[in-house]
Amino acid sequence: IVIVLDFGGQYNQLIARRVRECGVYCEIWPYDTPLDKIIEKNPKGIIFTGGPSSVYEENAPVVDKKIFEIGIPILGICYGNQLIAHLLGGKVSTALFREYGKTHIKYNTNSPLFTGLPENSICWMSHTDFVEKLPEGFEVLASTENCGIAAFGSKEKKIYGVQFHPEVVHTEYGQEIIKNFLFNVCGCKGDWKTSSFIEEKVNEIRKIVGAQKVVCALSGGVDSSVAAVLVHKAIGKNLFCIFVDHGLLRKGEAEEVINTFKGQFDMNVIKVDAKDRFLKALSGVKDPERKRKIIGEEFIRVFEEEASKLGDIKFLVQGTIYPDVVESGVGKAATIKSHHNVGGLPEHMKFERIIEPLRELFKDEVRRVGIELGIPEKIVNRQPFPGPGLAIRIIGEVTEEKLEILREVDWIFRKEIEACGLDKDIWQYFAVLTDMRSVGVMGDERTYDYTVALRAVTSIDGMTADWAKIPYDVLERVSNEIVNTVRKVNRVVYDITSKPPATIEWE
Ligand code: XMP
Repeated sequence: IVIVLDFGGQYNQLIARRVRECGVYCEIWPYDTPLDKIIEKNPKGIIFTGGPSSVYEENAPVVDKKIFEIGIPILGICYGNQLIAHLLGGKVSTALFREYGKTHIKYNTNSPLFTGLPENSICWMSHTDFVEKLPEGFEVLASTENCGIAAFGSKEKKIYGVQFHPEVVHTEYGQEIIKNFLFNVCGCKGDWKTSSFIEEKVNEIRKIVGAQKVVCALSGGVDSSVAAVLVHKAIGKNLFCIFVDHGLLRKGEAEEVINTFKGQFDMNVIKVDAKDRFLKALSGVKDPERKRKIIGEEFIRVFEEEASKLGDIKFLVQGTIYPDVVESGVGKAATIKSHHNVGGLPEHMKFERIIEPLRELFKDEVRRVGIELGIPEKIVNRQPFPGPGLAIRIIGEVTEEKLEILREVDWIFRKEIEACGLDKDIWQYFAVLTDMRSVGVMGDERTYDYTVALRAVTSIDGMTADWAKIPYDVLERVSNEIVNTVRKVNRVVYDITSKPPATIEWE
């Protein structure tokens, strides 16, 4: 393991990803983790991340200086680099101007950190402070025009600092630098793979659970599906998956989940048909947040009822993944998925232990584990789908009739996007049923029917998004098929707003 000590920088998760891309397992820990805990873990290396502070600030985050004496290799990035220099007796100064963006850099390629790189290259800088004077026993290993000490280190002490950001793609040989640190300096082998992860987790789960029963809420989303199949691999029929069909799913979705997990994997899946209950609870409700709340609460009630029928169960599986655990920047761990996900944990239910086998993985790693476990690509590469489902894609009151209309419209749009291969590039694509009706003409008759909106966005993480530039002919085909085949719809519009200012969902 390699430990990434988090000083609050914006690229911290990216550093962890780069390390794992080298086949080295790593975890992000808060900068103030006691040194004993770090030593106990016996990491092969430690990386100090960047951060927004200056080492001279009153409450600047620091580490115990003894960390430099325990013989574990250290790489400091940006603030981490300045911190090493500062704590070891060098001098950090503030530049008049911030150095930001792509910068020419010259490496000393005799250093283990830069072995195999061209001498001149491009790196990504983003800093105001810089190391002006080195601590004793260290040498300069790279420089740029404005930053004489763009990297420094000591082969003997195995401590290095870089002012630039090797973790971002704009640094040309960034991944090689991280690899050099891990392989040449820390002596890592790079043999961490999804298959060894699966094996490890299976053993761990067996040890924790023994012959007892375990329950999980299966939503059919990527995380809960992979978590369930992994636990099933470990304990087989002692896992009971509860799949709550709240009637707000997309066309064909419930069948797909049942066919895959019950059919293909022969898992214990208990399907609860709770459609009527949810519709009744939602009747007359128009406010989006109220809808979310009602659905969340109703979900917990249904789940609890079903789980209690299984007798006394001590373990609950949750599909928590790494980004849910690490709150960006501060490195403080939150135990429970906080967001309004219908597949979320009934917080007040008394389980002795929560099993979160994917807690250390990023989304792409979860997907790789899913593929390795034999879960169909269709499920593993699913677009995100909100817990409250179609209820927040129907503006205003949710009724069975509206659900039927939206399911058909959404199906046509999805089918067409997938048929032309655009699903690989588009983050989310779906239809919204507005509560607006407008006048149309069909044959010789006047119509007065619903307007549906198509929404498709590209995004990296759902936090910001651009509307997808779908070719006109695809939009035309979708629109024609919708108005020709779905009754009560006579107008189709395409949403061309990005996030911000709009959100991805309409409610
Ligand atoms: P917004 O609409 O906030 O959506 O731009 C960002 C991402 O979050 C999803 N989303 C939800 N997921 N429960 C969920 O599980 C919800 O209530 C919810 N609301 C939005 C949305 O689909 C998008 O991927």
